[in-house]
Amino acid sequence: MSSVSDVTDAVAAASLADASGSGASPPPSSAIADGGEQVVTPWDVAGGADGKIDYAKLVTDFGCSTITPELIARVERVTGVRAHPFLRRGMFFAHRELDQILDAYERGEKFYLYTGRGPSSEALHLGHLIPFHFTRWLQEAFKVPLVIQLTDDEKFLWKSMTLEDARRLARENAKDIVACGFDPRRTFIFSDVNYMCTPFYLNTLKIAKCVTFNQARGIFGFTGESNIGQIGFPPTQAAPAFPDCFPHMFGLDKKSLRCLIPCAIDQDPYFRMTRDAAPRIGGHKPALVESRFFPALKGESGKMSASDPTSAIYVTDTPKQIKDKVNKYAFSGGRLTVEEHRERGGDLDVDISWKWLNFFEEDDAKLAEIGEAYASGRMLSGEIKQKLVECLVPMVAEHQARRARATDAVVDRFFSTAPRDFESMFGDLEGDWMDEPNGGGAAGAVSFQGSENAVATNAPETKKKGGGGDEKSVAAEGEAPLSKNALKKLAKEKEIAEKKAKKAAEAAAKKEKAAAASE
Ligand code: TRP
Repeated sequence: MSSVSDVTDAVAAASLADASGSGASPPPSSAIADGGEQVVTPWDVAGGADGKIDYAKLVTDFGCSTITPELIARVERVTGVRAHPFLRRGMFFAHRELDQILDAYERGEKFYLYTGRGPSSEALHLGHLIPFHFTRWLQEAFKVPLVIQLTDDEKFLWKSMTLEDARRLARENAKDIVACGFDPRRTFIFSDVNYMCTPFYLNTLKIAKCVTFNQARGIFGFTGESNIGQIGFPPTQAAPAFPDCFPHMFGLDKKSLRCLIPCAIDQDPYFRMTRDAAPRIGGHKPALVESRFFPALKGESGKMSASDPTSAIYVTDTPKQIKDKVNKYAFSGGRLTVEEHRERGGDLDVDISWKWLNFFEEDDAKLAEIGEAYASGRMLSGEIKQKLVECLVPMVAEHQARRARATDAVVDRFFSTAPRDFESMFGDLEGDWMDEPNGGGAAGAVSFQGSENAVATNAPETKKKGGGGDEKSVAAEGEAPLSKNALKKLAKEKEIAEKKAKKAAEAAAKKEKAAAASE
């Protein structure tokens, strides 16, 4: 067991967190922090004095690790797959215990992926797709199951949004997520509001009991103005890191699988808390792979804002809209005059077209060529923008085509809590699920809620308590098996309750009889 708790690490980060996350109105999602210190919380991202995020400082403050070239090489070796450009090019740049997931994987131990989205806008923008594209790649490279949480509850609590809208957006956004190419045979998508079932709630309770308000304030920056729904929310995002939240997929054993969470680095506070609680509730600490923020069209200072339509390209944009937005708003590192540009070359450090091409141009050689031409001044600002448009237009069109195939029946299949075969979700899958009847959609009605009774077949069974090293700490959380005496007491209480109920029923029957007789 680690002596240094993740939560204590996080206290250093607490000074970063200001009074964000309080009240119902959304904080500005990208700005320059007032005090000149950068601010990164799950709800608020602001650059330092120069408007930029200092990622190296985040890694130190949060206490995670940088992804090294050696680690990337190891991912490639273990999976036999070339690393995704997001990994090769440093967009996913930080991790926690990714190396241990690889160790376990090599030993033949299984793991699952967990990611999510807060459904706060009608249409997703390109930045929203990044974690999902990467997660899909991870799923295919490792051939493992995936759960995707839609935190409609979180968005209701933080934004000025009705629950009705949050729930509707969860379902709408699920279509865009499905369009990223996940396979429903090993992917489960759920809305918190719909899925909150006993196995899930049990985990949130156990986690919640491990975290004091002082700790939560340190990790998330809660204040006296925060509503108590917000303060109580973090365990809901933590819980899916434990496989027994999903009995229909993974069975009822909390340690049946390890968990790897791909996310943007602003989600780190949630999972620091989760990792701290994990051993205390008898679970594995989840591992993390964390990304930088996707730069806004108008220039790099934190995340893109969904509320400013000119700062983002949406998955619903037409080719003309994409072209116009890029030409008009994409922050340029080009020089003032053509002459000066030819002489000094474009500034790759600030040029958004270049930065976005780094995300989306998959061809390394082509990318290098563009970078060289632009930096040397041979390529002009308008020309690199054109390159970006040529890259984005087919990508967005493809997304739109795939989204059109995400019918209600297909979405229902991803939401389905019908028990699965555990083993079937690992390794190679045969054929394309889309070729199945009904476009791979749900066959019949699906239940929203999971249950302890709808358990996956062939799932690992809970090991008998007694040998595990975690038991003591688990007992502290009231999770240990009951003692003989306690069991006896419970049996006695049950017996008394049953007797009482029987007596009451007899009395009621007598009364009824008497009433009937006197009529
Ligand atoms: N809180 C995240 C958001 O607002 C959504 C989310 C829930 C998530 N669970 C997650 C993101 C796990 C990454 C990983 O977008």
